[in-house]
Formats: sequence, C-alpha cells, structure tokens
Amino acid sequence: MASAALPSRESLIAAARDAATRAYAPYSGFPVGAALAFADGSVVTGSNVENASYGLSLCAETVAAARAMNDGARGGLVAVAVVGGSGPPVTPCGRCRQVLTELAQLGGTDPVVWCAGTDSLLEVQLSDLLPHAFGPGNLG
Ligand code: THU
Repeated sequence: MASAALPSRESLIAAARDAATRAYAPYSGFPVGAALAFADGSVVTGSNVENASYGLSLCAETVAAARAMNDGARGGLVAVAVVGGSGPPVTPCGRCRQVLTELAQLGGTDPVVWCAGTDSLLEVQLSDLLPHAFGPGNLG
C-alpha cells in the first residue's frame, strides 16, 4: 500500500466524532464513533449498531474494521480514533482490540489509538491495549 499524507490527530478524532452522530444506540444511549486511518491516506469510519437482542450489538471499532476489510483492506492500519459519550475517554472493548489487532497484524503495523474524551485524550499503541495478542501469525 502506498504511503500518503496521514490525517492529523485532530481530523481523525473529528471523523470519529462525526461517525458517532450516525450511531444506532437506542438501548444504551451511548453513541460511539471510530475512525481508522490507513497508510494510503484513506479513512474508514464506523459507529455502534445496537440490537434489540442486546448482546448482538456491534461496537463502533468493529463496524469500522469490517467496513474497511469489506473494502479490501488487509493491513496498513496506522491510527485509530475512538470517541464515545460525553465523559472520560472510551477505550476499545476487548473484542474490538482483537478485531483491530487482526487488521493491524495483517500489515505488520502497531497503530496509535487516540481515545478522545470530553476534556482529556488517551494516546496508546494498540499493542499496549492488547499485549501478547493472538493473531493471524499464530495460525502459521
Ligand atoms: N461500545 C463501542 O461501540 N465501542 C467500545 O469500545 C465500547 C462500547 C458501544 C457498545 C454499546 O453499543 C455501547 O457502547 C455501550 O456499551
């Protein structure tokens, strides 16, 4: 994948914030948006999609990763932004960490994850959110 200008931290967070406005979260009332930045300069967003069968709800990061992979992404993930609710930063849930790790490891990247709260920002590498991760490489 060719490298191109990467979105700034602020613009990726803005994309996540915009995605959150399209969340379908009638049960939790907790809209979340995620934005994935790729080495080719593309950005793919997602928001949480809940379900009347609550446990089937999809998180924003998982929706974004699925959208990207359905568009052909198989790596090149360089940055992730997550915005949720109106309080402290929302970090990706465990399942989302695993889903993001699949996409990252396919391309051998360790994306920075920006979790933006109302008044604070957490910046962390994906590998620090999910250390010693199981990934595609484990299957040989
Ligand atoms: N949620 C996300 O979309 N991403 C996360 O990383 C944490 C939680 C969603 C799931 C559910 O729709 C709502 O937030 C409340 O848990």
